[in-house]
Amino acid sequence: MKIAFAKSGLPKAGSLAVGVLDGGILSPTAQMVDDASGGTLARAISASRFSGKAGQTLEIIAPTGMDADRVIAIGLGKAEDIDGACLEKFAAAAYAAVEKAPATELTLAVDVIADTKEPVGILAAHAAFGAKLRSYRFDTYRTQEKPEDKPALKTVTVATNEVNAAEAAFAQLDAVAEGIFLTRDLVAEPANVLTPPAFMRKAKALSKDGIDVEVLDEKAMEKLGMGALLGVGQGSSQPSQLVIMRWNGGKKSDAPVAVVGKGVCFDSGGISIKPAAGMEEMKGDMGGAAVVTGLMKALAKRNAPVNVVGILGLVENMPSGTAQRPGDVVTSMSGQTIEVINTDAEGRLVLADALTYTQKTFKPQVVIDLATLTGAILIALGGENAGLFTNNDDLSQALTAAGGKTGETVWRMPMGKAYDEMIKSDIADMKNVGGREAGSITAAQFLQRFIQDDTPWAHIDIAGVSWGTKTKGTTPKGASGWGVRLLNTWIAETFETEGNAKSDKKKAAKK
Ligand code: BES
Ligand code: MN
Ligand code: ZN
Repeated sequence: MKIAFAKSGLPKAGSLAVGVLDGGILSPTAQMVDDASGGTLARAISASRFSGKAGQTLEIIAPTGMDADRVIAIGLGKAEDIDGACLEKFAAAAYAAVEKAPATELTLAVDVIADTKEPVGILAAHAAFGAKLRSYRFDTYRTQEKPEDKPALKTVTVATNEVNAAEAAFAQLDAVAEGIFLTRDLVAEPANVLTPPAFMRKAKALSKDGIDVEVLDEKAMEKLGMGALLGVGQGSSQPSQLVIMRWNGGKKSDAPVAVVGKGVCFDSGGISIKPAAGMEEMKGDMGGAAVVTGLMKALAKRNAPVNVVGILGLVENMPSGTAQRPGDVVTSMSGQTIEVINTDAEGRLVLADALTYTQKTFKPQVVIDLATLTGAILIALGGENAGLFTNNDDLSQALTAAGGKTGETVWRMPMGKAYDEMIKSDIADMKNVGGREAGSITAAQFLQRFIQDDTPWAHIDIAGVSWGTKTKGTTPKGASGWGVRLLNTWIAETFETEGNAKSDKKKAAKK
C-alpha cells in the first residue's frame, strides 16, 4: 500500500474519510462534502446517533453530487483534545471501514482545525502513520486467498494544506513504521523458518542500513563462560547465537544505550515440557529480540544522533537426549551458579549471560531488557500494559512518560529483598524459579542479580503485549510490534539532545 500527500479537496474517486468534531461540527472538507451532496452529511448526522465523539463513525455509500463512492465521517472529539494519537485512530477507523470494500483508493482529509495541540502538518503525518500501521498483514504463507478476500486498497492519500510539513514529519514516522513491521514479521514467522541462525541472518541484513553486526557462535560463547545461555540451547539441533548490533549515530565518547532481547525462537519448555494446548504461541518467544531488532532498524532509518547497542540472545528450548535436566547446575558468565529447577524458566538464563556480556563489553550508560518472560505478567496486567521492573526511579519516570506518549504503556511492578530471597538455592548461588507466587517479580529479581549495582537498568516483561488476539486501533491482530515506538521515543527524548554529535552537525548545517 502506497502513502501519498496532496492538497485538501474532494477526491475524484474511491473512499473519503472526513473528521467531525464533537457536537457535529464539520471539518472544512466535511463541509465541502455536505455542500456538494446537497446537505446529505448533515442529514445523515441528525438521522443517526453519530455526534462527532472520538471513536464514532458514520458511512455514506454512493453520495449524490460527488465523485467519491463512499464518505466515512469519523468523530474526532473536542478540538482541544486532538493530537497525533487521535489522528492515528482516525486513520485506523477509516482503514477498517474500507478494508472489506472494493475501493482501491482512500483519501484521509486532515484539515486546519483551530486550537489543536499540534500543527495540522504533524497531524496529517500521524494520520499517514496510523493508516500504514493498520495496513500491516503477514502474507508470506497465504497461497490460496481469493482476490475478493484480499485488501483492495492500493493508495492512501492524506489531503492537507500543509503538504511539505506533513511529508517531512512522516519521513521520521515512516522509519519507525519500518522498524515495527520488521518486529511484527519476525514474531509472526514460524519457528521452523525463524531458527536462531535464520534470525541471526535477518539481523546481519541490517548492515545495509548502516548497523554494525557481530555474531558470537557457541564456541565463542563457551570461551566466555556463558553456561546459562548455552544450557538452554543444548537440547536443540539449532546452534545458539549471540548477536551484537551497533548503531553509532552519536559522539564517539558517549557511552551507548544498551537494549537486550530474549530471543527464544521456540520455547517448548524443554524437559519441563509445556502442555500441548497453545504451545504454538511459543514461536513468539523471541518477541524481545524482535523489538530490539526493529528498534535498531528504526534508529538507522531515521539516522538517529545517538549510540545504541542491541544484543540478542538467540536459542531454541527443546527436549532431547542432550537437553538440560531439572536439577542441573550451570555456571553463568558472571561466575554465579544457577540451579535449574524448571527448564521452562529459560528466558532469564539466556538474559543472564546476555546482560553480563553487555555490561562487561560496552559499559553502557543504561541497560533495558525486553522479554516475553512470564505468563504471570499476562495474568497481572493483561494486554493493556507491559510490566516494568527497574532499579532507577528516573528511568521509571522516563519510560512511563514515553509509554503515555506512544500508547505503549508500562506499569511499574515492585521489587525487593523479600522477593529476592524466594530464589535462594540449597546447592547453588540461586535457583531459576521462585515458586508460583509473584512469578514475574522473582523473574526480575533473578535478572537483577546480573546487573552491576551502579548500572541503571529496566526489565520490560512483554509477554502480555507482544501478541494480540483482536485488532486494536492501529495494531492488527497478531504480532503487535509493541515496544519499538516506546523505546524509540524514550531514546529520542532522553539522549538525542543538545551537545550530541549529529544534532550539532544538523544545527551547523541549518545556520
Ligand atoms: N516464554 C514463557 C513465558 C510466556 C508465557 C510468554 C505465555 C508468553 C505467553 C517463559 O519462558 C515461561 O515458560 N515461563 C514460565 C515460568 C515458570 C516455569 C516459572 C511461566 O510463565 O509459566
Ligand atoms: Mn519457558
Ligand atoms: Zn520462554
